Amino acid sequence: MPQAAIEYARSHRDAFLEDYKTLLSIPSVSTLPENEGDVRRTAEWLADALRRLGMTRVELMPASVHPVVYAEYRADSVKPVLLIYGHYDVQPVDPLDEWRSDPFKPEVRGENLYARGASDMKGSMVALLKAIESLKAAGGIPLNLKFLLEGEEEIGSPSLPGFIELHRDLLRADAVLNCDGSIYGPDAPSITYGLRGLAYFEVEVLGPKQDLHSGVFGGSVHNPAQVLCELIAGMHDAEGRVTLPGFYDRVRPLSDEERAVLAQVPHSDESWKAMAGVKVLWGEKGLSTIERIGARPTLEVNGIISGFTGAGAKTVLPAKALAKISMRLVADQDPAAIHGQLCAYMREHAPETVTWDARELSHGHGALMRRDSAPMRAAIKALEETFGVKPFFKREGGSVPVVSMMQQSLGLDSIMLGFALPDDGIHGPNEKQHLPTFFKGIEGYIRFLLNLAEAVVPADSSH
Ligand code: BES
Ligand code: MN
Repeated sequence: MPQAAIEYARSHRDAFLEDYKTLLSIPSVSTLPENEGDVRRTAEWLADALRRLGMTRVELMPASVHPVVYAEYRADSVKPVLLIYGHYDVQPVDPLDEWRSDPFKPEVRGENLYARGASDMKGSMVALLKAIESLKAAGGIPLNLKFLLEGEEEIGSPSLPGFIELHRDLLRADAVLNCDGSIYGPDAPSITYGLRGLAYFEVEVLGPKQDLHSGVFGGSVHNPAQVLCELIAGMHDAEGRVTLPGFYDRVRPLSDEERAVLAQVPHSDESWKAMAGVKVLWGEKGLSTIERIGARPTLEVNGIISGFTGAGAKTVLPAKALAKISMRLVADQDPAAIHGQLCAYMREHAPETVTWDARELSHGHGALMRRDSAPMRAAIKALEETFGVKPFFKREGGSVPVVSMMQQSLGLDSIMLGFALPDDGIHGPNEKQHLPTFFKGIEGYIRFLLNLAEAVVPADSSH
């Protein structure tokens, strides 16, 4: 059975690639109002693809901004139910002039396919759909499926906590496959068992009632841009640690066992530097890069806006300054508590010359998953069969907020199985998907679904 499905997949690569490119050509940028119709067209494209695969109950279900695509497949009530998560929205494309080809005209160059969303995460979603198509063509889909495909992941999944809570019965399952994942390298398969959470804020410092002449007022009025920069500078100490009061209180320490697991990651600081394009790495002292990224929280300035930023010179003392600041969190940090810590820091350190505001834009919890469950073993085996080497475990620095929501509302861990690579340039210009990895991904999914159908005993056959 695996062989027939895999042969089908291998002989249909050209057709699979065409469908993948079609999906990529729809600009499903969830954050831009002008793309709302495109996001919906993407949802409809997926719904059609699911119907063609023989899925039932294919529906676009309303959410706050963009619909959830829901679908089911009933194979056999004695087989387990797998809930599949993916997101079909993408990030904006700016800076557009740095793209070598149009982000929504997918182009193959060398072994890669370049387009926005190629890696994050239309590639893995199409790979899964093509795995299902291959299984169907080769004799049948071996287990029950439910799909939850979201259009709001890149804006922080605002509808999902309510959606999952409301539809707990509908979403009941024995295991969750989350396709929004990556492997470490084309020949180095890995499984993510931890994700960081995110708390995102806008911090605004307000000074004079309007922009002032910097000569007339300079020296007598505190400059909000300077104040904001000083506040930001104080948010880390000399050891690279975040100084918000209580920030580390709930950080779950790494056990020796986990340290040993993470030490298996074939990481090289040299190649990490090359990938980032920096001369020297930076971070919290006393920890390996892998530990800092996966198991420690961070604070990043995502952007600063103030005063005159056009070409040429303008002598101005700006009325206000604004920074986008986000924290990556680890289990068991609580994003709501982080807001309190940020405000406490601002109250303590902001001078009386200005007023300020710190607004939360979005948040999501981090997650840690069991490494020894039956679905996890099915995934490990699938990767080993596909890549010819045993995968290792890693923690991801990025965030996929739905994972903790599903743990909390459905009591289910997610298997993060996706085929992005760390150098795909996700969220940046010239995002790409490595095509040999995409095609291996299809085979990985085929094997995962087959292994899971065998390995998982349904908790309750009344779904
Ligand atoms: N696909 C990413 C998360 C990810 C990154 C998974 C790298 C595996 C490897 C996801 O789409 C993403 O970008 N999430 C956002 C979440 C945010 C918008 C709430 C992130 O991490 O910034
Ligand atoms: Mn993303």
